[in-house]
Amino acid sequence: MGRTAAMIRTLFLCFLLGGCAGVQTPLDPAGLQSAQLLSLFGLMLWVCGVAYVLVLGFLGWSLWRARRRIAAETAPEVNPVHRGLSRGLWGWTAFVATGLLLLAIASFLTDWTLARAERRGAIEVSVTGHQWWWRIQYRDPASGQWIETANELHLPQDRTTLIRLGAADVIHSFWIPNVAGKMDVIPGRANQLALTPRRAGWFRGQCAEFCGPQHAHMALDVKVESPAEFTAWLAAQAKPAAAGGDPTALAVVTAGPCAACHMIRGTDAKGRVGPDLTHLASRRSLAAGTLPMSRGAVQGWVAQPRAIKPGTMMPPVPLSGPQADAVSRYLMALK
Ligand code: CUA
Repeated sequence: MGRTAAMIRTLFLCFLLGGCAGVQTPLDPAGLQSAQLLSLFGLMLWVCGVAYVLVLGFLGWSLWRARRRIAAETAPEVNPVHRGLSRGLWGWTAFVATGLLLLAIASFLTDWTLARAERRGAIEVSVTGHQWWWRIQYRDPASGQWIETANELHLPQDRTTLIRLGAADVIHSFWIPNVAGKMDVIPGRANQLALTPRRAGWFRGQCAEFCGPQHAHMALDVKVESPAEFTAWLAAQAKPAAAGGDPTALAVVTAGPCAACHMIRGTDAKGRVGPDLTHLASRRSLAAGTLPMSRGAVQGWVAQPRAIKPGTMMPPVPLSGPQADAVSRYLMALK
């Protein structure tokens, strides 16, 4: 019965909202928190939907009665407050009051459950919103060290990850609709959000608070994977960048303009302003979900970041042909 009810509910939602599968939708929950929020949404939709249908029904009925009266050329009754109408109004008031009470209780209980989510033994991740990218730091469970990456969040399936949110400049909002609800990211305030993903796969997070001209290009690739895959990924991210590289590229990246803003662990590039590039090429996309990761995209981004993302802090880096070639090769080797 529970399954049938769930199926009817899903079908109803899909019909009403025109398809609900996807990598960025709260209607296709892949996490404990998003499933709880969808249940609350379903209840709200039912209560409000029934009220809407009843209001339209009453409206249609009264119009039909009025037309009939005009056609029959009869005058309205002297006292319209007859017993039926009075009873109907009492019934309607009771329905509205019960519906609102039900929604208030359900929304309180959902909030309470989300706030009380089990956080003991949770993986700790610090996420900082910048205009317009996400700084992501994992606490290494073995060494206690912070491991930094950007714009790509990996989460182990069926385990709780506690995200500590901070903002470097303006207010942003952290939202991975398939996994959990959204949480504002406010300068000077430490907000927290627990994520317990239940289904593996790639999802998309998006800044959900207008934060400047590139707000729409402040996305987040999210990968939910098995705990073993997650551990292997974290161990790879903890390593410094592979040593060596073409001298032409190193002169620009680790000993040139790039190093002023970017960190490449294991090299002389120790900037903290922009995203950590230690394992840049292991990520799925570039510039906070703006471009798919490829050598061409990297080369274009370095040459003309402000043509791709107007307003970005990243300045264009004028390079000769051979330099651009060497730099993009070097960056794409940072796996
Ligand atoms: Cu950050 Cu919108």
